[in-house]
Amino acid sequence: MGEIIDGKKLAKEIQEKVTSEVAELAKTGKKPGLAVVLVGDNQASRTYVRNKQKRTEEAGMKSVLIELPENVTEEKLLSVVEELNEDKTIHGILVQLPLPKHISEEKVIDTISYDKDVDGFHPVNVGNLFIGKDSFVPCTPAGIIELIKSTGTQIEGKRAVVIGRSNIVGKPVAQLLLNENATVTIAHSRTKDLPQVAKEADILVVATGLAKFVKKDYIKPGAIVIDVGMDRDENNKLCGDVDFDDVVEEAGFITPVPGGVGPMTITMLLANTLKAAKRIWKTN
Ligand code: GUN
Repeated sequence: MGEIIDGKKLAKEIQEKVTSEVAELAKTGKKPGLAVVLVGDNQASRTYVRNKQKRTEEAGMKSVLIELPENVTEEKLLSVVEELNEDKTIHGILVQLPLPKHISEEKVIDTISYDKDVDGFHPVNVGNLFIGKDSFVPCTPAGIIELIKSTGTQIEGKRAVVIGRSNIVGKPVAQLLLNENATVTIAHSRTKDLPQVAKEADILVVATGLAKFVKKDYIKPGAIVIDVGMDRDENNKLCGDVDFDDVVEEAGFITPVPGGVGPMTITMLLANTLKAAKRIWKTN
């Protein structure tokens, strides 16, 4: 029977560390600031952004929300980002995705100053991650590495398989595992014999976006299984990309949905904002 990795507990522990460091900085009159830009009325985005703001304030940081209407021009959004780049009280900038179709996400990401890019989406940060230099690491992948490390398992030398190749999760988490000296395979929808490939994994990260996609026959006995999914099952109940009940017997460790990867993402955003602030203060 696999041990459940408690993402809520780990997220809280890391947030407490960030909060106490922020409190120390406050004594010297310093306060990290995060600006979140929300475009349009997407309800899911609105909920995510509200949670980000709440957690930022709980950590003792400055939180700024900039709301723009669905029909805002790309030019206007880019000028808002440029103003935030110049704002000395703001150390982290996050533009909530997805953006309306008439706006280029690529252009917006490229415009965010890479030293305030707490999402880790800017090409400079992506490149630095690729060559193993210090960079801002996207929040969900950074959280996944913390979850794996929390099991006490050494990543070095292990076989890791990542199912999914998105720029936000699959590719960066594969790169982080490689930087930790795992032997990494990136599998995806066109991979042949996917269950056999997955079964090689000591560490299996699943980010397919397909409800309960991974079953018992994908799992090497004792493997660490990290489920990045946020899906709905046939009864509209929240579930992951892994069929938890089917897999839990076979796995060594497994993250639940909810309560696994999800809670770690905002915590890593706060950690990135603190890191951004400290870097900016150091160079100014
Ligand atoms: N939309 C869904 N997840 C994310 C994220 O991690 N960052 C941003 N900016 N938008 C998102």
